[in-house]
Amino acid sequence: MSTDLFAPYPLGDLGLKNRFVMAPMTRNRAGAGTAPTALNAEYYAQRAGAGLIITEGTQPSAVGQGYPNTPGLHTDEQVAGWRLVADAVHEAGGRIVVQLMHTGRIGHRDVTGLQPVAPSAITPAGQVFTGEGMQDMQEPHALTTEELAGVVADFVDASRRAIEAGLDGVELHAANGYLLHQFLADGSNVRTDGYGGSPENRARFVVEVATAVAAEIGAGRVGIRVSPGHTFNDISETEIEATYEALVTGLEPLGLLYLHLAEDPSTSYGDALRKLYSGPVIRSTGFAGPSDLATGQELVDSGAADLFAIGRGFLATPDLVARLQSGAALNEPDLATFYGGGAEGYTDYPILSA
Ligand SMILES: Cc1cc2nc3c(=O)[nH]c(=O)nc-3n(C[C@H](O)[C@H](O)[C@H](O)COP(=O)(O)O)c2cc1C
Repeated sequence: MSTDLFAPYPLGDLGLKNRFVMAPMTRNRAGAGTAPTALNAEYYAQRAGAGLIITEGTQPSAVGQGYPNTPGLHTDEQVAGWRLVADAVHEAGGRIVVQLMHTGRIGHRDVTGLQPVAPSAITPAGQVFTGEGMQDMQEPHALTTEELAGVVADFVDASRRAIEAGLDGVELHAANGYLLHQFLADGSNVRTDGYGGSPENRARFVVEVATAVAAEIGAGRVGIRVSPGHTFNDISETEIEATYEALVTGLEPLGLLYLHLAEDPSTSYGDALRKLYSGPVIRSTGFAGPSDLATGQELVDSGAADLFAIGRGFLATPDLVARLQSGAALNEPDLATFYGGGAEGYTDYPILSA
């Protein structure tokens, strides 16, 4: 039987108006103090036709910032900025959770003035964008066992601030090679304490963060994104099934808002996790594409997903859901304005209904 993706879906108590999710997308347009601005609020409000918006990756602490002009959620000024965003989206009838992205070893002193931190002191291959252009990545500081509690506290504090700002919840970014993924992956985690060495140990830190955040704001306000097998940001993993099974087994009793999979749906990992996890699952294609209506319909109809996340489609077409429903043509994304800049390529994509 075919499911109507345009019909409401009761995700937790959020009551989504449809099953389309705007995937998290870094846009590097935060204002002073890396606080969101009225321009950011306008951008998200334009896209409130999504059942759920997941915001761009947002640092829960100063050292968790990997790129210039990404927003934070660790100061009062940033909370005030996020309130503009939350209010504008709610006013437009949407729902919005903020993605908490601690970038870990993906970062640079030239962005934050701080040495990046990671599970282990392993420098990632490749370069990172800084205010001074592309630069080689640097050796991160390996977090001590004692320091881990501070990182958990930063996630908890940022989540409390998200609710204070009026956002509907948080998504923990445990995908795409950032800090939480660095703990899961044996290529970046060679720890010899209780947080490394086995699939259960590598999953432990992520489960601890999720447990602490759920205890602070309620499990029904917390989603999590994972990307098993992705190699983005020099991440490398073996024992993938065992590690993600350990993770999902640890998350299962929490009763989180959702599990969000960012991976090629043709791999087997996502299907196995879907079977293992009893809560709602968001599926996105993880760049394997295409993120079109037919793909979303197939994922939901086959039982592989409850909700379908689309990235670049929402970036370029603010009224994407209405256009998918009517069959209208979509706008073309402009790569040159993805990261950084102002209104151009951000809030000026044409809206048919406007
Ligand atoms: C400009 C841009 C920025 C992105 N930033 C993030 C991010 O901050 N966090 C994240 O989890 N994924 C990020 N992604 C990945 C998207 O969430 C999504 O998985 C990806 O774009 C594939 O979906 P699509 O083919 O529908 O665009 C980003 C993608 C794009 C295009």
